[in-house]
Amino acid sequence: VEPRKPLIAGNWKMNLTHLEGIHLVQKLAMSLPEKYYAKVDVAVLPPFTHIRSVQTLIDGDELLMVHGAQDISPYDSGAYTGDVSGPMLAKLGCKYVVVGHSERREYHHETDELVNLKVRAALKHGITPILCVGEGLDVREAGGHIAHITAQLRAALAKVPAAQITGEGPTLVVAYEPIWAIGTGKVASPADAQEACAALRATLAELYDADVARRLRILYGGSVKSSNVGEIVAEPDVDGALVGGASLDGAEFAKLCAVA
Ligand code: G3P
Repeated sequence: VEPRKPLIAGNWKMNLTHLEGIHLVQKLAMSLPEKYYAKVDVAVLPPFTHIRSVQTLIDGDELLMVHGAQDISPYDSGAYTGDVSGPMLAKLGCKYVVVGHSERREYHHETDELVNLKVRAALKHGITPILCVGEGLDVREAGGHIAHITAQLRAALAKVPAAQITGEGPTLVVAYEPIWAIGTGKVASPADAQEACAALRATLAELYDADVARRLRILYGGSVKSSNVGEIVAEPDVDGALVGGASLDGAEFAKLCAVA
């Protein structure tokens, strides 16, 4: 079995103007030598308004990073003011889309059912969902984190057959993002990240089979920086990172990718 190649994905969230976004991609491209891409996959996930320009830059300059989006509508088209659909994102060359981020679950009241529809919409249009799960501090302190995240994973993958997440084309990336570690500077310990990612992989093995579970990438997200990414991705079941704050600085993000 081939080892899983790590993925470092930069979730810009609602940050950077259009011009700053272009500048960041340029800076990242200049700061990360091409040879690193043999060992690590790098993705940037800008706001919708920046995607076309980022796509043009990546394609035109044949950059080795890829791009994606931060959200997707569960529907293909129609009267859904403000939403952006899978066919639209696919046309913009999006390889990944974040689904089920805790900020969307909280601020936009996204339910497990909606997250499931979004996962399926992404796969339908050839985009790999980066499916986020994670527990709040109260759940962690009560010791319920593993039950919580594995239930989120099961719900998000309802009616997703193995054939849709294996083989050629889109696959699935799972990201463990404990809410108490997001944007707080409080990173989970490597052992905590490993425990959660291993439990998620075991759940994938139950839902599908061991081979599917072995192939899929599971990321950790929450206050990842170039100074702590090394010990986190060294854990056997952690296959990369979903990075927020530290992805907004080209030099820092390049360093983080190089360390990974
Ligand atoms: O999606 C990544 C994210 O939620 C982590 O954010 O700023 O703690 O790296 P941050």
